[in-house]
Amino acid sequence: MAKEFPLISTEVKPVSTKFRKLSGPVPNSATIKEIEKLREAEPLSMRGQPPVIWDRAEGVNVYDAYGNMWLDFSSGVLITNAGHGHKSIVEAITKQASRPLLTTYCFPNEARVKLTQKLISLAPQGLNKVFVLSTGAETTECALKLMRTYGRKTGTDDKSIIVSFENSFHGRTLGAQQMGSLGGGEAWIKNLDPEIVQVPFPDGFRCQDTSFELFERTLGRLGVEPDNVAGVISETYQGAGPNFMPKQYAKDLRKWCDKYGALLCFDEIQAGFGRCGTMWGFELYDVLPDLFCIGKGVSSSLPISAVIGAERVMNLYGPNEMTSTHSGNPICCAAALASIEVIEKEKLVENSAKVGLVLKEHLQLIKGEFSERIGFAPAAGLVAGLLMVKKGGKDPDYELAWNVGNLCFRKGLLMFAPVGVGGGCVKIAPPLCISEEAVKEGCEVIREAVKESL
Ligand SMILES: Cc1ncc(COP(=O)(O)O)c(C=O)c1O
Repeated sequence: MAKEFPLISTEVKPVSTKFRKLSGPVPNSATIKEIEKLREAEPLSMRGQPPVIWDRAEGVNVYDAYGNMWLDFSSGVLITNAGHGHKSIVEAITKQASRPLLTTYCFPNEARVKLTQKLISLAPQGLNKVFVLSTGAETTECALKLMRTYGRKTGTDDKSIIVSFENSFHGRTLGAQQMGSLGGGEAWIKNLDPEIVQVPFPDGFRCQDTSFELFERTLGRLGVEPDNVAGVISETYQGAGPNFMPKQYAKDLRKWCDKYGALLCFDEIQAGFGRCGTMWGFELYDVLPDLFCIGKGVSSSLPISAVIGAERVMNLYGPNEMTSTHSGNPICCAAALASIEVIEKEKLVENSAKVGLVLKEHLQLIKGEFSERIGFAPAAGLVAGLLMVKKGGKDPDYELAWNVGNLCFRKGLLMFAPVGVGGGCVKIAPPLCISEEAVKEGCEVIREAVKESL
């Protein structure tokens, strides 16, 4: 079981820089009291993050109510691409709410009209239908349903196999959890769907064979007939690393899907809206999917997600056959539209690419300094990871990753608890408006924390 951050009041070494301010005991007794109320009311699973009660958050900073300010390397969980609490997003939300218009179910609303137009204008040509939902898992469930429906409609009844990748994450609902096998999260499902199969992800670190033959060989070993594959789904990059597939692998995968009439779906829930230094993460591969899922950074704030895809796939269900209560909520749509406009106006995709190079360079230096304990430091744009390993090998070192995160927290740098295979990944994903100066300061904090943790 993952560790809880202890609710013990301890003094921190005072910090005061442009990006971080910390003093006194952290957490203080008032914070502890409030978190204890949560711990009483909520399941254990909600206890995994550092003990700060977010009071407000702006730009690249998160504040508590006691004068402490953290530099944020989490973006919540890769949500706030446009920066925390952006004025334009706050205004758009307030304006929409105060019309007043708070919800419309699937009745049309103007904000949904504008958002769908905007998303289609940003999506690659041919991917011209948008189904707006609320959470990431809803979109991957929907993609699973669409891929299967399409397979069986265009092929035989057997064309219903879904191929996904080992150590992927697509959400925590039934179908999503079977497609994503990270950490054995699907273990609770007694009757696993035998037509959802996994192949190794060619990350080049734990899976050294990055050739596309491995995909075909694995399907052969699993007894999967290629003609029976309805679709292949992959996170554009695996959040667990972040792990990227080689460009050639992605191209071969696209060709394979075309050859066997299988759909290709990228789960862009983390990768979209500039995170990787490109508007869409799959631009890194020069490959177009048939459908893709977005969420998180689409609004930099309120819960909204979508499946975007080709008409032949998206139109498989008739009126009122594929809906969700909060689909296209006007306030969420207004927030998403405002966030996309901020990303465009403030050139945050470009900033992600530019500042991402600085992040990458500094993480490589840290990896070089602690090469026995940091096995891999993948990065693209403003998403990166430090994969902590047991001395000299590749086994994940959760304790070390957790200690680094905890020490960073106590130095004024905020990251969510470690993720990935064996919990060994210290994941770095600041808001895309971050400056080079802030990235350098945050990396220096990480370097100190690794040093002190060894
Ligand atoms: C790649 C990916 N897919 C799907 C999800 C699930 O999204 P949600 O938590 O909004 O259901 C996540 C969430 O972390 C994700 O990172």
